[in-house]
Amino acid sequence: MIEPLPLKSIHHVELLVGNAKQAAFYYRKAFGFSQLAYAGPETGVRDQASYVLQQGDIRLVVSTPMFPTDPMSVHLQKHGDGVLDIAFLVDDVDACYNEAVGRGARAALPPYDRADEFGRIRRAKIRAYGDTLHSFISLADYRGPFLPGYQLRRRPSAGAGLKKIDHIVGNVEDGRMNDWGTYYNKVLGFHQFMSFDDKDISTEFTALRSKVMADPTGTIKFPINEPAAGRKKSQIAEYLDYNLGAGVQHIALLTDDIVHTVSVLRDNGVEFLQVPPSYYDIVWDRVGDVDERKDDIRELGILVDRDESGYLLQLFTKPVEDRPTLFYEIIQRKGCEAFGKGNFKSLFQAIEREQAERGNL
Ligand code: FE2
Repeated sequence: MIEPLPLKSIHHVELLVGNAKQAAFYYRKAFGFSQLAYAGPETGVRDQASYVLQQGDIRLVVSTPMFPTDPMSVHLQKHGDGVLDIAFLVDDVDACYNEAVGRGARAALPPYDRADEFGRIRRAKIRAYGDTLHSFISLADYRGPFLPGYQLRRRPSAGAGLKKIDHIVGNVEDGRMNDWGTYYNKVLGFHQFMSFDDKDISTEFTALRSKVMADPTGTIKFPINEPAAGRKKSQIAEYLDYNLGAGVQHIALLTDDIVHTVSVLRDNGVEFLQVPPSYYDIVWDRVGDVDERKDDIRELGILVDRDESGYLLQLFTKPVEDRPTLFYEIIQRKGCEAFGKGNFKSLFQAIEREQAERGNL
């Protein structure tokens, strides 16, 4: 048993985007995030602009580098818009970083201080799959709105009922799922929470394997997917082609009222994957009764699955950028801690229709 690193929570997820001003507008107007803070030339940060977006306990930071020589510009040109950093809040940055690197994590940035008029933070970064980073951040001596360099720039939104990050999924290259599972086990002390093989997740055309790694409390869950051989190109292979390697595939956001959340998001213009209407001809035989109105679920195109401990409701957006890479999942759990295995087949058939339209199936 490997001692888990004492991670307190996911502090924020930072996305690199081509135009942070417009991305912030999109997350506010489409997903109901409120803007909390801003860093950029006006706040003394010369080389990038970043907007902090918050809803419930979820914090997304969208950042754009200002200059082409910035390493973030290289990242952005290669991968397009997507996740740069999944940052953990910790008490002792140096201890976490040294332990992680000692256990084999690749170093990205050793511990450093940043300060402004609100105090001081300590931060370090290690590398994960692809060019994804994990920061360790300590805020014990900091009283500002977010991090040093950021100023409070509130732009409230009515919200959409999104509460917290449920899980963040990485896509890795064929044959690398077990290596990255071992990485999260060895470096962070995560355990395998669940796994799926290509018999669970395959259609006539494509297949994938997935392994869910979780922290000891089960509040941080990182499924890792790899493509499996199928008759045609797996959705994971398509992602790897367009992202130029491994990276975050989707971020699942938890709501406690998915009917409300998906209504708001649809009204705001968020695009979701569509399963065929026939899905609802058989779903109730599979999952039985639910608390929600079945008509609402069908009209909003929400998916339902059940295991022995309860059920879940979920829905997936289309990619939120032009490359078929990062997308979001909206999920509500009613006792079920799984990932919607019963929906995989109809869902992947919906994804394959989209792939075919892009000429990638
Ligand atoms: Fe998911």
